[in-house]
Amino acid sequence: MMSNYTKDLWTKDKDHLLHPWTHFDSFKTDGALVLEKGEGSYLYDSDGKRYFDAVGGLWCTNIGLGREDMAEAIAEQVRKMAYASAFVDLTNPPAVELAAKLAQLAPGALNHVFFSTGGSTAVDTAFRLIQYYQNCRGKHGKKHVISRKGSYHGTTYAAMSIGGKKADHVPEFDYISDTIHHISCPNHYRAPDGMSEADYLELLVRELEDKILELGPDKVAAFFAEPIMGAGGVVVPPRDYQRRTREVCKTHDVLYVADEVVTAFGRLGHWFASQEVFGIEPDIVTCAKGLSSGYLPIGATLYSDEIHETISADNPDRVFAHGFTYSGHPVCCAAALKNIEIMEREDILANAREVGSYFETRLQTLRELPIVGDVRGMKLMMCIENVANKDTKETFPDAMNIGKRIANKCDEMGLIVRPIIHLNVMSPPLIMTKDEVDFTVETLAKGIRAVVDDLVRAGEL
Ligand SMILES: Cc1ncc(COP(=O)(O)O)c(C=O)c1O
Repeated sequence: MMSNYTKDLWTKDKDHLLHPWTHFDSFKTDGALVLEKGEGSYLYDSDGKRYFDAVGGLWCTNIGLGREDMAEAIAEQVRKMAYASAFVDLTNPPAVELAAKLAQLAPGALNHVFFSTGGSTAVDTAFRLIQYYQNCRGKHGKKHVISRKGSYHGTTYAAMSIGGKKADHVPEFDYISDTIHHISCPNHYRAPDGMSEADYLELLVRELEDKILELGPDKVAAFFAEPIMGAGGVVVPPRDYQRRTREVCKTHDVLYVADEVVTAFGRLGHWFASQEVFGIEPDIVTCAKGLSSGYLPIGATLYSDEIHETISADNPDRVFAHGFTYSGHPVCCAAALKNIEIMEREDILANAREVGSYFETRLQTLRELPIVGDVRGMKLMMCIENVANKDTKETFPDAMNIGKRIANKCDEMGLIVRPIIHLNVMSPPLIMTKDEVDFTVETLAKGIRAVVDDLVRAGEL
């Protein structure tokens, strides 16, 4: 039973707040869960119920919530200077220091930073930067972009068009379709029957190269790829995929954009996954989320010396006509700097590596359950894929909302796991302990068993 306090909030929310990804029909009856307090890896709803947040907000509360040192750093910057423009020839100390820090942490020649307000605007900036760069080079025909089915890159017009999740491309919205192309999702679990990982890799690499050749290398500007797909279902590509696709791009003069909005800042145990985990140096890296651990909104587009030299080459008429009022926002940059300092001081990446490995191993035990077809991911970025038939890998009808049913059972037991149609994804704070891994895995198992019992009782399994 909701308290009157919660009921009031729940009702006003329903009446006035349009949520990202609202499913209008169910929202009319279900409304939203009101979350009111965050402490470390735990959230509390408006009636005081405590949840372990195995989703880390939305892949972002990396150092955990409610830290005094973060609150202090933010408050100090608000007192000193809450806002200053970074347009044209103005700058501020937190923005400068953060840009320099990111250049130090990022792979090799990625020494230049453009600040935005989050992941979508970082991706949109990458998209515009690519156009700008290719035009500066006189490659005016390079207008096409290649991405993957199942990818997620955010929700500005360009970012959503680059994204390849079928369920996100709802018919009521429009998308850029003439210059954006989607090749296969590199998910070995869904590869043609019996195909080895090595053969599947060859198929995927050939497909990228064929697509570039079909469009014409003089027409293709860039390839966008998350090192591990997040919202598309934590898809870990076959071994060596990143290096091989990077090589294909280099061969054909196609820029490689690694969308590290989820994977950067520790989710896979390193600052950036591209180089430290997968051994590649992209031309552009986008990041957000863990950059401030969700304390304040900020995104960044990091790009190479080569791109910078080209776009800033002598030309008296050239203006980089792009930017947001809140690019280089001093308070957001101060929060990101403090977040990075905390991660360094407390060696949070080491915890992500150690506890992440334990999480990977423990979650694999869920494969024994009758509807768990796949358990995949890396470190603190994991997913279970629920299927109606483990032999044929047939999924449940979308309308059954199997992921949501499991998430609801877990909610009741004080665990938040994110449903994405038939999947449950997890991206807990990087401060997670082994005991919390045990709690998460055991509670999730109980939730799945309870849903299986319901399905059997209803004759649906
Ligand atoms: C890989 C990736 N890119 C971009 C975005 C968009 O970020 P934001 O929601 O901060 O705009 C997301 C968000 O989940 C993401 O996962």
